[in-house]
Amino acid sequence: MSAQPLPASQTDRILIFDTTLRDGEQSPGATLNVDEKLTIARQLARLGVDIIEAGFPFASPGDFEAVSKIAQQVGTEDGPIICGLARATRSDIEAAAKAVVYAAKPRIHTFIATSDIHLEYKLKKTRREVLEIAPEMVAYAKTFVDDVEFSPEDAGRSDPEFLYQVLEKAIAAGATTINIPDTVGYTTPSEFGAIIKGIKENVPNVDQAIISVHGHNDLGLAVANFLEAVKNGARQLECTINGIGERAGNAALEELVMALHVRRQYFNPFLGRAVDSEAPLTQVDTRQIYKTSRLVSNLTGMLVQPNKAIVGANAFSHESGIHQDGVLKHKLTYEIMDAQSIGLNDNQITLGKLSGRNAFRVRLKELGFDLADQELNRAFLRFKDMADKKKDITDWDLEAIVNDEAQQSPELFRLEHIQVSCGDHARPTATVTLRTPEGEELTDAAIGTGPVDAVYRAINRVIDIPNELIEFSVQSVTQGIDALGEVTIRLKHEEVIFSGHAANTDIIVASALAYTSALNRLYASLQSVKALHPQHDEAQPVG
Ligand code: KIV
Ligand code: ZN
Repeated sequence: MSAQPLPASQTDRILIFDTTLRDGEQSPGATLNVDEKLTIARQLARLGVDIIEAGFPFASPGDFEAVSKIAQQVGTEDGPIICGLARATRSDIEAAAKAVVYAAKPRIHTFIATSDIHLEYKLKKTRREVLEIAPEMVAYAKTFVDDVEFSPEDAGRSDPEFLYQVLEKAIAAGATTINIPDTVGYTTPSEFGAIIKGIKENVPNVDQAIISVHGHNDLGLAVANFLEAVKNGARQLECTINGIGERAGNAALEELVMALHVRRQYFNPFLGRAVDSEAPLTQVDTRQIYKTSRLVSNLTGMLVQPNKAIVGANAFSHESGIHQDGVLKHKLTYEIMDAQSIGLNDNQITLGKLSGRNAFRVRLKELGFDLADQELNRAFLRFKDMADKKKDITDWDLEAIVNDEAQQSPELFRLEHIQVSCGDHARPTATVTLRTPEGEELTDAAIGTGPVDAVYRAINRVIDIPNELIEFSVQSVTQGIDALGEVTIRLKHEEVIFSGHAANTDIIVASALAYTSALNRLYASLQSVKALHPQHDEAQPVG
């Protein structure tokens, strides 16, 4: 079976393939539960990405469930393509096929390494074997779905002549997208551009597939490499929100999209457009970028550095006097894009103390949150509690409440009550009450070096799982003395990292909630089957 030629409409713009839920989730400590993955997938759909790589279904029952629920609930007719990752084995491909089947537009992404170093030390296979397996597995995936993506892992370090042969066979077997990964973030922009150019010139049937790129940021070059790839013919970019992912992360979606948006006159000719064409190069709604970045940071516990391009706290602030003066005279002196364009200023004061349940529900709906009755009730109680303490409730406050609720699970521990006493002449003492997964209420107390330490020690007396706290950070959601405090923590248990995040007007309460949330993730991981890593764990024999 050979691949169908692509409709022109798919190649005169750049397709955005988001892999936050797959490669992004492979970041240490970024593990998400099924509900959190669904929340992110819904937001990615609002952001307007073309493809969501929802996970690696063969990894574990939890991963399978997440991909199939995203396929059912987000992969609608007018929604994005939903993709599942599979190593080049029948069992992986079958699991991916079963998980994405519910999507209106399902895709299977299968991969096998092609660099000699991976062949010799990881796969223990010859080039000849890989040349057979790749098309065989693409053809197998094609028996389940029309849309099959193939990746030669570590393409950046593969022999180009061998790469051309594998790609030609994969396309002939039905691959409609060929994805070129710089798996270890080793190439430079001109080298990566040359790889794409070489593929365009040397793979005879390349016009029957979209060329995609995938890259890691080990040398900080992933975004630059992708932009060079676009100039040489790549039309799909695989990226993650905030650039999260293995090691130094993946190419950051927000940086790619905004580079293509702000510099579209530069890129237009490479896509065969008139230089001054105003037609967007991607279909991403850039005004959803900031909100998506916050959501992913909150749910994964991966903080965004303040100087991070596009979404960092300082990206649009002008500290120095010279810059402020210039910006006041004319914005364009020091600003190449408007904070409005990424939705940074979309933080309206919407509700207050007197707002009722209906106003609350309507505003949440406008913000894109459609909560079930029970979730809505819980979130409304949190809102009322917050409105007693804080005069104006903004959209970001509402989002913080809903994101917090997404992280709560009835099967896990729940903080019911907390009381702390401290001061310059007092010994910090905390009493906590937690509801166990079995529904029992347990209370304990502890003394610590400070209030947070006392709280953590008290919680440890109830949830007795050894762990080491490795990161603790407090930030405010909005400005003002009554602002919500957001606490993000990371803890380690037997070399595995777990994160927790919570927001509250009281930062001690937020600290306790964040810690409980991280311990819950740890507890849940101890109860469940260990998920396989798609690239590091042994593949099942092909058969
Ligand atoms: O980095 C990589 O090579 C990958 C592949 C699975 C595409 O993530
Ligand atoms: Zn990767």
